[in-house]
Amino acid sequence: MTPNQTKFPAKSLLKSFGQRISQGQIRYLRAGHLDIFEGARKNTCFLESVSGKRFYDAFSAAGCFNVGRGNPEIIETLIREARRRDMGSAGMLSAAKIEFAVKLAKIAPGDLNRVILVGSGGDGIGCAIKLARGATGRQTIVSMNKAYHGHSGFSLSANGKAYYRQLFEPLMPEFRFIDFGDIQAARRVITPDIAAVILEPVQGEGGIHVADDAYLRKLRQRCDETGTLLIFDEIQTGFCRTGKFWASEHSGVVPDIMIAAKSISGGVFPNAAVVFREIDPLVNFVEKYPQFHPSFGGSDLGCTVSSRVIDYLFANRVWEHAAQQGSRFIAGLRNLREKHAPVIREVRGRGLMVGIEYKDEFMGVLMADCLAQQNIFAAYSGNAPQVMRFQLPLSVTAAEVDDLLSKIDAAIRTLKRYLVLLRPLTLFPVGRWLLNEKDMLIPLNLFLRRFGL
Ligand SMILES: Cc1ncc(COP(=O)(O)O)c(C=O)c1O
Repeated sequence: MTPNQTKFPAKSLLKSFGQRISQGQIRYLRAGHLDIFEGARKNTCFLESVSGKRFYDAFSAAGCFNVGRGNPEIIETLIREARRRDMGSAGMLSAAKIEFAVKLAKIAPGDLNRVILVGSGGDGIGCAIKLARGATGRQTIVSMNKAYHGHSGFSLSANGKAYYRQLFEPLMPEFRFIDFGDIQAARRVITPDIAAVILEPVQGEGGIHVADDAYLRKLRQRCDETGTLLIFDEIQTGFCRTGKFWASEHSGVVPDIMIAAKSISGGVFPNAAVVFREIDPLVNFVEKYPQFHPSFGGSDLGCTVSSRVIDYLFANRVWEHAAQQGSRFIAGLRNLREKHAPVIREVRGRGLMVGIEYKDEFMGVLMADCLAQQNIFAAYSGNAPQVMRFQLPLSVTAAEVDDLLSKIDAAIRTLKRYLVLLRPLTLFPVGRWLLNEKDMLIPLNLFLRRFGL
């Protein structure tokens, strides 16, 4: 990556983006200094196209780049494969689909041996919910508050943030929400008329909440008692992100249905899959209605790339690397928490899925800006803006982790300078409310950025 090769004229690009895609999106991104043009990408970093600066990608498109950005082995597979064949016909039989399904079934937990190929994470969530309703003959789906499962159809209905749902109501009926981690609520709500419970083993957008292993085991037990299906959304957590190949492995709990996407194809070609247990109601339903969820997922290109991603992750035992560097990173951030206790409430995570929770919502958005000043691209959680998510490419080295920690330290010092200015407001409940009010956050941060405060 040579800096000046990729420089762009920022103004004209921004203008075109605003005219043809969305001005509102630029405004939204700008508040957190996330209005950055991605240029060349390699391993843990990308070049910012306007300034030519090298940025750490601490976001990884919410966990898409587990094999590292621009992984040459995966790119080579894609190019070679594209020369040989196009994406293929979705519903046809092909060797690429079979190879991938066999590999995925082999590495999936327990007896999750059956695969449905789909096009995206949200598509997979929709397919999983339809499968659960179809196989059980029951309607109600239990999801978690703050959950994130996507923005269309069934996946939006399962989304745990009312803000995303309200604009489009009425949505799909028969969705109920409980608090993540609350086993009493789960026991109350999961009764023999519930089709399925869906959750992320680590809530990503919800603010990096790691499900307690005992909680997952009790949830499994309750589902078994009531004949309810357990669905794990491993779209962010799968493919080595949390220090195991699947996050469910930490608890030993085998779900009935699991959805994988994002890093499934190394971040170079979209692909996703639903994997389910070889048990009667599920297999019978799929065999009886093989066309219940036709999708343009499972293209030959996507499947071939995904097969090589699995090979790569196993050959390099990437989950071990994620566990080691994740421990180093979390320990370093906990030291920073001691140092900056008035600002940071908590550091939590598993493997390289890590969050810093600040004391107030507005701090997450400000912190994105402070980190960008240190050339770190990191996003605050969509469903919990007070939490900064760190989902580095799993290629990150120990030296890079240490460098990131010193940069994060510098960013927190900048945040504290901002806070001196905002202190008068933070002293009063109404001031804090105003700062945390979504519609105030963006103009406030734009103001701070404009005047370079
Ligand atoms: C946990 C989780 N579930 C579902 C989705 C939806 O996936 P997609 O955007 O591919 O539809 C995402 C995407 O960010 C996700 O992170």
